[in-house]
Amino acid sequence: AKITYIEFDGTEHVVDVRNGLSVMEGAVKNNIPGIDADCGGACACATCHVYVDEAWRDKTGTSSAMEESMLDFAENVEPNSRLSCQIKVSDELDGLVVRMPESQH
Ligand code: FES
Repeated sequence: AKITYIEFDGTEHVVDVRNGLSVMEGAVKNNIPGIDADCGGACACATCHVYVDEAWRDKTGTSSAMEESMLDFAENVEPNSRLSCQIKVSDELDGLVVRMPESQH
C-alpha cells in the first residue's frame, strides 16, 4: 500500500509498504526520519507516535488498551494519535497519510 509520511518540518515521503508490515516498519525500512521505534514494535516505547490524517481515522481503527496506556508516555497526544507499530498495512490503507510529531523531529 502507498503510504505518505510527513515529517514535522513538512517533508513528505511517499513509499510503498508491503501488506502485513506495520506503518512503523514501513518507515524504518525506508529510512524515513521521525519514527524512532526504540522498542522495535513491541508497543513499549511510544517513539513511533504518529498523527493519523483525519480522513483515515476510521480505517486505521482504534488503539488497544495497551497502546492507549503507552500513548500516555508520548508528548502532545491528540485524538488522532496512534503508535505506528500497532497499525498494520493492508490494501484498505492504500493512500494512508500520517504525520510525525515534533518530539520525534
Ligand atoms: Fe515502540 Fe511502537 S515501536 S511502541
